[in-house]
Amino acid sequence: MIHLENLTKEYDVMPTAGKPGQVLATDRLNLDVAGGEIFGLVGPNGAGKTTTLKMVCGLLVPTAGRVTVNGIDVERQPEAAQKHIGYLADFFALYDDLKVWEYLDYFAHAYKMEEAAIAARIDYAIGEMGLEPKRESYIAGLSRGMKQRLGIARAILHDPPVLVLDEPASGLDPKARHELKELLRAMNRAGKTIFITSHVLSDLEEMCSSIAILEKGKLVRAGKIEHVMRPDTPGRRVRIKLAIASFPLADWLGARPEVSAVVPEGNFTSVVFAFLGGDAELADLVAKLVAAGAPMCGVEEVSESLEKIFSRLSTGEIM
Ligand SMILES: Nc1ncnc2c1ncn2[C@@H]1O[C@H](COP(=O)(O)OP(=O)(O)O)[C@@H](O)[C@H]1O
Ligand SMILES: [Mg+2]
Repeated sequence: MIHLENLTKEYDVMPTAGKPGQVLATDRLNLDVAGGEIFGLVGPNGAGKTTTLKMVCGLLVPTAGRVTVNGIDVERQPEAAQKHIGYLADFFALYDDLKVWEYLDYFAHAYKMEEAAIAARIDYAIGEMGLEPKRESYIAGLSRGMKQRLGIARAILHDPPVLVLDEPASGLDPKARHELKELLRAMNRAGKTIFITSHVLSDLEEMCSSIAILEKGKLVRAGKIEHVMRPDTPGRRVRIKLAIASFPLADWLGARPEVSAVVPEGNFTSVVFAFLGGDAELADLVAKLVAAGAPMCGVEEVSESLEKIFSRLSTGEIM
């Protein structure tokens, strides 16, 4: 559903003594978020999460690489892509002297929604975010958790299939955090794909189906949560290489029962994974991969442990 390809952003900054005039905020990110997932992007402050999301939403132009959402190139067709995306920024302004429904009404008009549909769209957004009891409340009197929900309500007014949320849980107390998680889970069950960031892994761990770890603009690990969290998974280590990154290799492999701990390398043309099976099963996997259209150009057994591969990845050696 969301596809990042060598996504790179370099900011120009004022050069100061000893520091260059550029900041490499994201460095050749390759990532696939499948439809129906809650995909978490985790990383410390400054890792490049916000930069990544802004490029996904077409609010920031990549220095190199590209993003597609539902097959639409975000840079080439930002408006078409944005129809598929609801975005909640890390900081957003609310208007204290508006009521909850007035705020949504204001944005429905600003988004030039069809007049006849607006009332139903507002009801939908209010209902999804559990804001019914606050419909007539002034924004000034809302708790932080309720404000956050209102921000998301605004983002889903146009009923997009994809939600992109930048640190929605930050600053919330445990109860509000829990409620937000439940609302997001419910929306996910109802079919929405969610791409969400946090600088706290535990925020995302129990909610996400997949996770990617970002450090200093580089992807350290990505995959199904149970695989990413268990680098000491049993099985032989296998590396598969593609001629070009035209096939969602990590995603495809991650969906197979005999494959776990999928670690993408540098650019997504190669991955290492743990494989439970013998040579015959591996030959079968390769045949299926080729039949699925992957431009395979190599398969090899890797002798080192995944732990070692992970630590090499996290120090950036492989990139
Ligand atoms: N507008 C900008 N101009 C210059 N540098 C920026 C800008 N926005 C972010 N950066 C830098 O890019 C890096 C990534 O920032 P950001 O994407 O905000 O990370 P995160 O959201 O993970 O905290 C940081 O080093 C940050 O200082
Ligand atoms: Mg951020």
